[in-house]
Amino acid sequence: MTPRRIALRADLLDFTAAPDWGDTESPAVRFRPDHWLLVEDGRIAGAQPGTPDASWQLHDHRGRLLMPGFIDTHVHSPQLDVIASYGTALLDWLDTYTFPAERRYADAGEAERGAARFLDALLAHGTTAAVVFPTVHKVSADRLLAGAQARGMRLIAGKVLMDRHAPDGLRDDVDQAERDCVELIERWHGVDRLAYAVTVRFAPTSTPAQLAMAGRLCAAWPGLYMQTHVAENRDEVLWVAELFPEARSYLDVYARAGLLNERSVLAHGIWLDDADRAAIHASGAQIAHSPSSNLFLGSGLFGWRAAEAAGCAVSLATDVGGGTSLSMLRAASDAYRVQAMAGERLTAWKALHAGTRGAAKALGLADEIGSLETGRVADLCVWDWAVGPVAERRMEVARGLHERVFAWMTLADERNLVSTWVNGVQRHGRRD
Ligand code: GUN
Ligand code: ZN
Repeated sequence: MTPRRIALRADLLDFTAAPDWGDTESPAVRFRPDHWLLVEDGRIAGAQPGTPDASWQLHDHRGRLLMPGFIDTHVHSPQLDVIASYGTALLDWLDTYTFPAERRYADAGEAERGAARFLDALLAHGTTAAVVFPTVHKVSADRLLAGAQARGMRLIAGKVLMDRHAPDGLRDDVDQAERDCVELIERWHGVDRLAYAVTVRFAPTSTPAQLAMAGRLCAAWPGLYMQTHVAENRDEVLWVAELFPEARSYLDVYARAGLLNERSVLAHGIWLDDADRAAIHASGAQIAHSPSSNLFLGSGLFGWRAAEAAGCAVSLATDVGGGTSLSMLRAASDAYRVQAMAGERLTAWKALHAGTRGAAKALGLADEIGSLETGRVADLCVWDWAVGPVAERRMEVARGLHERVFAWMTLADERNLVSTWVNGVQRHGRRD
């Protein structure tokens, strides 16, 4: 049985607001060195420097870092099987590696085992909440949501919609897809910590009739999320222009189908223009920036500052298997590299905020996850500041908090993760 009251001692780091661009001394950062974080009945009950009384079960991680669990706003559960595949850009990569692998998820046993492997891997990388693409198969979404429920996780997912330009065994049709979505929504949406996302894979794999059906679902069911890919790769953008000549832009295909709202999660958004960014801002949708994937597939360099200047919310994502790690720290440090290529400097504060409180806010979940605020669900990770002699030396000589956290973000990975807590329950622990 999990005790009602637990207390974790560590250096506590979270954000109380959005850090400004370039501000390494940001007032939005809340750093409470050597504090006890109090967790009661799965929720954060406060934090204090002094040792709590005997009614609390104590977990002493002094000298370690405690942060809210990461929120990965765009990741594909079946694509662990194709992570790190050689030699292709997006459209060939889908045909060569991804579609064949996703076919396996038609089988319920395969879907269940794959979901368990994926969810445990998320937890072992410090991710406690995610917005996830399974496959076109209803059973893949069902088993993924069931697996998240069993682990107490906050998960947003839905069966992938694709009724064209996909191989046999990976296509649905409008009517069957609608029935499957409705059944899944009725079974899972709003149950425990789960929410359903209408999941349009991307414009090329849905007919206009299917996009319209997806738009009707979003309008009919309050609180549904919508997730898709947009403007990731230049060949993809050209293809969408051929397929939808009536649309002003790739994004406009989704806008015309009624798919843009404040719960829409748009992966990538590299090849957008000012009108697209204005439309995203007006709708309240967010861009799930996936830098590791964008580098690995050679998709392009995301203009974070332009998106932010236009008022778009930007969250951080791994996009595994286009991305090559489930580690949000790897995503954060790749985001730094992408901005550096454009002559910009991304602070650790902005990167980590986009993977915690910023993502929570963009998803409308800031009252539940993303920070160490009293009352939030205790989705937490305890990290070693350094693993190995290089990182240890770097930490020894680091001056100031930003320098230290930036070096941690850049050098750390899942090997630094000591334990992961979901809803106040430890769900992952490193074997030392
Ligand atoms: N566009 C359509 N499908 C996918 C996918 O699975 N991964 C990525 N990165 N882009 C996509
Ligand atoms: Zn993706």
